[in-house]
Amino acid sequence: MPLFVYNQRCFTSIFFFAEAAQPIILFLEESMKIFIDSADIKEIREVHSWGILDGVTTNPTLIAKTGKKFDECVKEITGLVDGPISVEVISQDASGMVNEGRELAKINKKNITIKIPCTPEGLKVVKMLAADGIKTNMTLVFSPSQAVLAAKAGATFVSPFVGRLDDISHFGMEIVRDIVNIYKNYNFKTEIIVASIRHPLHFVEAAKMGAHIATCPYSVLFLLAKHPLTDIGIKKFLEDYQKIPK
Ligand code: G3P
Repeated sequence: MPLFVYNQRCFTSIFFFAEAAQPIILFLEESMKIFIDSADIKEIREVHSWGILDGVTTNPTLIAKTGKKFDECVKEITGLVDGPISVEVISQDASGMVNEGRELAKINKKNITIKIPCTPEGLKVVKMLAADGIKTNMTLVFSPSQAVLAAKAGATFVSPFVGRLDDISHFGMEIVRDIVNIYKNYNFKTEIIVASIRHPLHFVEAAKMGAHIATCPYSVLFLLAKHPLTDIGIKKFLEDYQKIPK
């Protein structure tokens, strides 16, 4: 009898077990992915060394902070991380965005993901780049309706900005909950990147809601790993170790 393995929203393997009386279906949940929201190679290298990094998101503000040239900065990141690396276009019209996207994708076809702002022009670009097999990340998303259109256009990723919504007194995580539910209703394949994360609670809420990815600045990733009781515990164990007769 066959054993079907359902993973990453599709059947990935089929094994045969002669002793099974009836077909078995095994559902494997996808793991949450963690991206770093940074263009700073030192920060990216450090988090990469922790062994938990699945990808990188950048934007023009983050690249400007490095003081490096745009392409030079992107190439350096692609040399370090083997996973989706979001790079944003700056044109406003569809043809300009498509040209930029195609050029950027040449840096590393496998990993470069073109970040496109959620506008009517941007939606056209998602469709065109998807036809070229280029991954896209629909960014600057602030409502569930924008997220539905991004998925319909065929975006690989959608990035709701939770911190910027909090800044204007709107619960940013509420739109993530809505997007997760709507995508489940229709089995949309677009992966949700919770972006503009400002603190560890955004990250934990994203995980509880079942968002696919959280992209966090280095400062937040560092806080995720820290706990004062861990530090106190280490200090006490070290003190007690000194008391052990040598
Ligand atoms: O990934 C988007 C992010 O860079 C925006 O973050 O803190 O500028 O709202 P923030």
